[in-house]
Amino acid sequence: MIINKINGLSGEVTVPGDKSISHRSIMLGSLAKGTTEVKGFLQGADCLSSISCFSKMGVEIENKGDIVLIHGRGLRGLKEPASTLDVGNSGTTTRLMSGILAAQNFTSRVTGDASIQKRPMKRIITPLSMMGADIKSEFGNDCAPLIINGTSLRGIHYDSPVASAQVKSAVLFAGLYADGETSVTEPAVSRNHTELMFEEYGVDIKCEGKTVVMKPADELHARKVIVPGDISSATYFIVAAAITPNSCVTIRNVGINPTRDGIIEVCRMMGANITIEKTSGDIGEPTADITVSTSSLKGCTIGGDIIPTLIDEIPAIAILACFADGETIIKDAQELKVKESNRIDVVVNNLKAMGADIEATDDGMIISGGKVLHGAVIDSKLDHRIAMSFAIAGMNADGETEILGSECVDISYPEFYNDIKRLSK
Ligand code: S3P
Repeated sequence: MIINKINGLSGEVTVPGDKSISHRSIMLGSLAKGTTEVKGFLQGADCLSSISCFSKMGVEIENKGDIVLIHGRGLRGLKEPASTLDVGNSGTTTRLMSGILAAQNFTSRVTGDASIQKRPMKRIITPLSMMGADIKSEFGNDCAPLIINGTSLRGIHYDSPVASAQVKSAVLFAGLYADGETSVTEPAVSRNHTELMFEEYGVDIKCEGKTVVMKPADELHARKVIVPGDISSATYFIVAAAITPNSCVTIRNVGINPTRDGIIEVCRMMGANITIEKTSGDIGEPTADITVSTSSLKGCTIGGDIIPTLIDEIPAIAILACFADGETIIKDAQELKVKESNRIDVVVNNLKAMGADIEATDDGMIISGGKVLHGAVIDSKLDHRIAMSFAIAGMNADGETEILGSECVDISYPEFYNDIKRLSK
């Protein structure tokens, strides 16, 4: 994909449904009694991987585009898959589904693409094993393929060393089947979609500070799910509108759950022109229309408990920082190294190639804003968030930017380039 400088960005956009909530709707819908109707489901490759895995376990899922119907089989109704469960590029499918598979009365094998086979799975193997799960890394390297022999599980308290919703959720999904209470404490609160949706599906679950406590479930009750727009996808328009001259963009119906809204706080810290107008929301998830216009930005320091609330937005925030006066420091974000790519290295190397003043640190990066960016060949490493962040950078760089592997936006935002084109002047 070739990207050229634009003269402005204006209009309205509705970004696709939230990826995290879409995955969870398939999993909870599959385990519930009755039919779950999901509106606004994200038709991205990652969520389609969740559909294909649960279909392989006997769940009838009707994908009608914007609406998905999941005919749940009940907590004990999954069938042994005839072959390997292929999660594609999806870490969320791998980790959350493993918590479910640990408690089934069959054995399963879970693997995915080259990126998935490099991502750390010890973080779920450890707590699930504490619950009594029989889960192994096939090649003994703590990565997928995973072999999971379903068995009975016990409730535990888990003090998680990482603020990770995928780890927390793997334990909570396993907790549905445990013989007693399950609880997880995190170093900082990560996204809480699992907790909110468990409550909606009838699970006895409570959150107190950084701890969540739940009881095992007898039955889950199907319900309608309306998926809000994904704030992670909205971020590309937020950043693009703030850094591009002559711009004003409204992003409709975006999920602004407080465990996900760190990008809004960063925009405020950096002095962006951003307004938030709350809309109705559903399943405990607040939503808003977000309007952003061309802004004069200043650098800031981003670290501590805010990091999990914007972890997927950091590549785009790095682009924002290149257009701010002064220094932006991003710290406490070592988790970036174990995402779809090593996002510290990939962001820093690609921004250096465009002429930015940026240095990698052990747990983040330091950016001195104000250098004029020039076009370059950007290796996305097939990481969707890198491809979209650098498309935004390329729209504000002199000359031509080429994004290698640009089609990887299919993971979370298949229509991304069309939406950008439509709003560009
Ligand atoms: C996700 C949690 C986050 C995030 C990922 C989706 C989820 O990962 O980066 O894109 O849906 O639970 P971690 O839990 O590994 O931080």
